[in-house]
Amino acid sequence: MLFELFKTKLPEGFFQGAFDMHSHLLPGVDDGFPTPEKTVEALTFLHQQGVKAVKMTPHFMKDYLENTRETIEQKYKAFVSDRQAAIPLELSLGGEYMLDSCFPDRFNEGFLTLDKAGTKVLCETSYMMMEPRMREMLYDVMLKGIQPVMAHPERYQYASKSLYHRWKQKDYLFQLNLFSLAGAYGEPARAKAHQLLKEGMYDYVGSDLHRLDNIADKVRAIRLSKKEIDALLLLMENNKAL
Ligand SMILES: [Fe+2]
Repeated sequence: MLFELFKTKLPEGFFQGAFDMHSHLLPGVDDGFPTPEKTVEALTFLHQQGVKAVKMTPHFMKDYLENTRETIEQKYKAFVSDRQAAIPLELSLGGEYMLDSCFPDRFNEGFLTLDKAGTKVLCETSYMMMEPRMREMLYDVMLKGIQPVMAHPERYQYASKSLYHRWKQKDYLFQLNLFSLAGAYGEPARAKAHQLLKEGMYDYVGSDLHRLDNIADKVRAIRLSKKEIDALLLLMENNKAL
């Protein structure tokens, strides 16, 4: 495509001072990092890229019923105290909440939110279909003064342009997965990510890191226009305000 010629890689030092607000770095609790050693390796890598702070957002969903606020807080505290000397950046704990049958229980015990004020919670749906009770669930959440941040909306195969607009009208916030821009989740998600970014639909950006793998290659594969780079920088600023 002709327009691709005008796109560039992310500039050197792009992640200096960044806050990654979505990651699966808490070891051994979901499909993310399996061991404390692997987590420390990843934190060290992120630190070397200039990342200043990372939020661990483990999955809360029916596939991991053992993940409750209490068990996750215990595991987070144990990891931080065991590995304190090897942790090179600021860490904090949040969660990524699947809108499924266990969501009401997680809501009742209190969310691990994205922000210190406790007003923003990271939510996701399945990629294939929207949870039928999603609207009611999130209505209850918003009544308590908590705003849902929809994780990686570009990945939802069922989501149309009009659905994205309906979500925004309801004041749901959107979080871009950085590597969607590199095509890490396929072409449809890549195209949607670029479109939503250009339209100013996103509020935050996160890595959603599950493993280190070929992360440097994925970063190098991102190609953005000047306008998209500016939009991404704004999202990174929003992250810092959480
Ligand atoms: Fe995630």
